[in-house]
Amino acid sequence: MQTKYFQIVVNEYNSINELPESDVMLVYAARKASKNAYSPYSRFNVGAAVLLQNGEIISGNNQENSAYPNGLCAERVALFYANSKFPDDKVITIAVSAENFNGIVSEPISPCGSCRQALMETEVRFQHKIRVILDSQEKILVFDGIDNLLPFAFKPDSLG
Ligand code: THU
Repeated sequence: MQTKYFQIVVNEYNSINELPESDVMLVYAARKASKNAYSPYSRFNVGAAVLLQNGEIISGNNQENSAYPNGLCAERVALFYANSKFPDDKVITIAVSAENFNGIVSEPISPCGSCRQALMETEVRFQHKIRVILDSQEKILVFDGIDNLLPFAFKPDSLG
C-alpha cells in the first residue's frame, strides 16, 4: 500500500479591489444576478456570471421549486445557458456570489458537487481550464481549473 498526496491550489484575496478589472466586473455581474434569484424556500440568493472567450458575460441565478430537487443552482443555470447560446465559445471564468438575510455572505460559498461536475464537463469539452471566483465579504477565492475543486473527477475519457 502507498499513501499518495495530491496538491490543490487556491488564491485568496482580501478585497475585491485586489482583483484584475475584468474579474471585478464579473463579480459585480454575479452579485447583480443574485438579486433575481427565485429562492422562496431557502431564501438564499446565488448569482453566477460566466465570461466567454468572445467577451460575452452570461449570468444566472438559483431557481427553486416546491418539489425541492427540481431546483437548479446558479452556476448550472448560467453555465448551461452560456453553452446553449454560444456552443463554440470557451468558458474562461465563472464568478459566484451569494446573499442571505444579512447581505453578501461573510465567507465564500462553495459550488455543490453537481455544479463542479458540470464545470468539469465544460472544461473537457472546450479543452480549456476554467477559473472560478468565489465572492464574499471577508475574502475572495480564485481557483485556476476545476481539478482544484474536483480531484479524481469522472471525465468523458473515463467511459473508455
Ligand atoms: N445554491 C446555488 O445556487 N449554488 C451553490 O453553489 C450552492 C447552493 C443554491 C441551491 C438552493 O437554491 C440554495 O442555494 C440553497 O441551497
